[in-house]
Formats: sequence, C-alpha cells, structure tokens
Amino acid sequence: MTITVADPYPDYRRLREAAPVRQAGDTWWAYGWDEVNAVLTDRRFGRCPPGGGSAVPIPPQYATLHHVVANWLVFLDPPEHTAARSRVAGLFTPARVAALRPRIEELVDELLAGLADRPVADLVADFAAPLPIRVIADVLEVPAGEHRWLRERAVALQQANSSHHGDGYPAAERAARELSAFFAIEAGHLDVPTAVHLLTAGHETTTNLIAKSVLALQRHPEVRAELSAEPRLMPQAVEELVRYDGPVQLVRRRAQQDVRIGGRHVAAGSGVVLVLGSADRDPARFTDPDRLDIHRTPLRHAGFGLGAHYCLGAQLARLEAEIALTALLRRLPRLRLAEDPVPYAEDLVFHGPSRLLVHPSRST
Ligand code: HEM
Repeated sequence: MTITVADPYPDYRRLREAAPVRQAGDTWWAYGWDEVNAVLTDRRFGRCPPGGGSAVPIPPQYATLHHVVANWLVFLDPPEHTAARSRVAGLFTPARVAALRPRIEELVDELLAGLADRPVADLVADFAAPLPIRVIADVLEVPAGEHRWLRERAVALQQANSSHHGDGYPAAERAARELSAFFAIEAGHLDVPTAVHLLTAGHETTTNLIAKSVLALQRHPEVRAELSAEPRLMPQAVEELVRYDGPVQLVRRRAQQDVRIGGRHVAAGSGVVLVLGSADRDPARFTDPDRLDIHRTPLRHAGFGLGAHYCLGAQLARLEAEIALTALLRRLPRLRLAEDPVPYAEDLVFHGPSRLLVHPSRST
C-alpha cells in the first residue's frame, strides 16, 4: 500500500473505492468519511492499549522523552484526558484567540518586510515556520530571543514521534530534557508536558497549512484573484483549504474492545489509522470533493480531527492562516513559485512541503 506523499489524493481515492476500511497486518486503515467519523466519535476507541499502558511506544531508556510525550493531551484517554483538556482550554477561548490578532498582524508584517525584496525566498523557512512558533511562544509567555532554540527542539521531538525507525530518539531525549528544564521555569501555571505539547502541536501544523495554502492558491489562480479582490472571503477560504489539503493527513486510535466498523470485525487492541485527508475527499460527504471551492456550503470536515480530541488550537490556526494569507496576497501580489514540483517531507502525519521556493515580487 504505497501512498505518494506529494499528492496522496489519487491513491486515497483508489484505496477508498476498493475498500473504505482495510486490514494491513494487525492495523486497520479507514479511508471513508463515515468510517473515520464513526471511529473518532466512538468511545470504544481510545489512544492507549486496552487494560492500561501508554499510547506512545518510546523505549524506556528515553525516560524524559517518554514522560513529556506520553502525557500530551492527544495521547490520553478519559478520564485523564477530560481533566487535562479542561485545564488548558482556557488559553484558547474565542476571546483569548481574537485578542492575538494585532500581534499576529505585526509578526506577519515583520516577516514579509524581510523577504519582499529578495529574488528568491523559501516561504517555509522564512515565513510559514517562524510565524506560528512566535505566536505560540507569545501564548506561552516565552521571552523573545528563544524562538529558534524552541523550534529546533520542537522539531527534534516531533521527528522522533513521527519516524518509524526510532533513530531520532537520542536527539529527542536531549530536546525533552532541555525543554523540561526550560518550561519548569518559564511555563508558570502549565505543566511541562502540556507546554511542550502546545509548542509542538501548534507550529508544524500551522506552518504546513500556510505553505500548502500558498501552493494551492498558486495552482488555482482564479481563486487567488478572487481572494485578492475580496479579502473578506479569506476565513471561509481557509476552512476550505483545511478540508482540501489538510496539514494532518492521519491520526491513530486503538480498539478498546471488539468492534465492527464498515462491516468488518476489529479485535480489541488493534490499531486503527484514520485517514483524515481521504475522509475529506469522500464524494459520499462532499460534492465534487477534488475541487477547491471557497463557496462550498460549510460542512464539518475532519482536518482538525473529530470527537473528543478535536484540535484545541483550531481557532488560533485559522486566525494565523487568515492573517498570513491576506497579507501575503496584498503585499506580494506578483509572487511566483521558483520550483515546481515542490519537495515534500516524507511524512503524512505532519504533511507539507520541506521547502517552498518563490520569487516574492517577480514582475513577469
Ligand atoms: C489536536 C490538527 C493547529 C493544538 C489536533 C488533531 C488534529 C489537529 C487533526 C486531532 C488529533 C487526534 O485526534 O489524534 C491541527 C491542524 C492545525 C492545528 C490541521 C493547523 C492548521 C494547532 C494549534 C494548536 C493545536 C495552533 C495550539 C496552539 C492541539 C492540541 C490537540 C490538537 C492541544 C490535542 C487535543 C486533544 O487531544 O484533546 N490538531 N492542529 N493545534 N491540536 Fe491541533
């Protein structure tokens, strides 16, 4: 079962049409909207193995890494999950998020000013990556000047988490120790795992949303022209961009008991991979799903997850993307890709281009 990372959608379609749920070894894969939605909203599926144990298979010698990561909200089941989520939800109320708008606008302006005159820029490294790390650092009240240091460590943690061969564990353990020491002093009312979780969850995803949205708009000049002329359409465009090419293509669960999904028997303890990117292109849910249509009647999509683990930072991510894309269209109206095809990181969990070279202001 090979999936082309740079454009997984034709593969998803083939797989979904052949079987919306299929077994590969001891893991099940769900591609259809109904099946993905059913699993994510069913309490008989959780993160941890039934009967106890951790959701994260980090070897015990990496003790700090294990402690920090295994206590992330996203890896907890109720009742721990419910309690931990309610402790942190106050940071992301609509009012708290809306109050960040001027600061995000300021950061976006600074970053764009730094790249407007360059013949070639990497929109990932120079714009889409620094923005979310600075915003989340503000939310966590981390002093300016620590951003690059934080980002490097967040990336090391994430690589250990998404890689399948574990060669990133020693670097991730080092990063976990350094971040634990840092947040033990800086994070005030937040516990260390939560602070580290917010740092990692909030940056690579938003980076990829901004980068992939720029790419989608370059490939749909008619949508780009419409948004340049009518920036008030940007919030609904961002929602559609998350559905159309979401930054998190898959999430995982484990059956807590024997369950049937899509007519198939899933044994207790089995892993289930929910392919959000495929569910969001399922024609049984979305009319003409492969079309980027910013006027689509809004329907709940799976790009921010579904159910109890629904993304806590969704509102913040939407706001960052709205401000970033609006400013980009206004300040760099002649932006062009400098390389196509665009290289992708070999990762479907955190899905996006490894770089996005552009001519910021080319006049031809
Ligand atoms: C959970 C996507 C940005 C914080 C999730 C999940 C998805 C997701 C799919 C569910 C994971 C699962 O069910 O296993 C995204 C996307 C983003 C984004 C696409 C950007 C476009 C952010 C930001 C923050 C954040 C900016 C915070 C600053 C979280 C947290 C969870 C989460 C804390 C775990 C919630 C829980 O387990 O209860 N996100 N996210 N995310 N996200 Fe996001």
